[in-house]
Amino acid sequence: MAASITLLVNGQAHSVQIDPRTSLLDALRERLDLTGTKKGCDQGGCGACTVLLDDRRVLSCLTLAVQADGRPVTTIEGVAHPLQDAIVEADGLQCGYCTPGQVCSALGMLAEHRAGAPSHVTADVASHPPLDRQEIRERMSGNLCRCGAHNGIVEAIEAVASDAKSEAAAS
Ligand code: FES
Ligand code: FES
Repeated sequence: MAASITLLVNGQAHSVQIDPRTSLLDALRERLDLTGTKKGCDQGGCGACTVLLDDRRVLSCLTLAVQADGRPVTTIEGVAHPLQDAIVEADGLQCGYCTPGQVCSALGMLAEHRAGAPSHVTADVASHPPLDRQEIRERMSGNLCRCGAHNGIVEAIEAVASDAKSEAAAS
């Protein structure tokens, strides 16, 4: 039996009747024509499908559309952030297939870091570690890039994080 849900995507409400087994990824791509969110593995291994749900990063291939009912979802189509230019400037993409997931994941990751969440490589979990390359690599390790553009992606995230820090210090 189909479920009636409301998907709130990038500030727009969409009422859909959907098979309750449908993933959020398939709902976005096939029902709402939001194809910026990519399907890589469809089993939680690559990060290409990352979106923000309640401002937190999730793998949309492992999230049921019904779980997102009435909750704000942000996809790459709803993102306009300096990180996107920074990735281009740092040569952080080649084919671009992983890029929407990298951007959404990085935005979620930066918010997690601001909130003080430690990572696996944080030596002192009671501290608020600086977002150095090792921390960025670990925190972004769920997002693969088959073109090998990881160095540029990390460089772009580092640049944006450092700009945000300078702005916060100046204000
Ligand atoms: S498509 Fe979702 S993690 Fe690969
Ligand atoms: S730019 Fe091609 S997979 Fe990352």
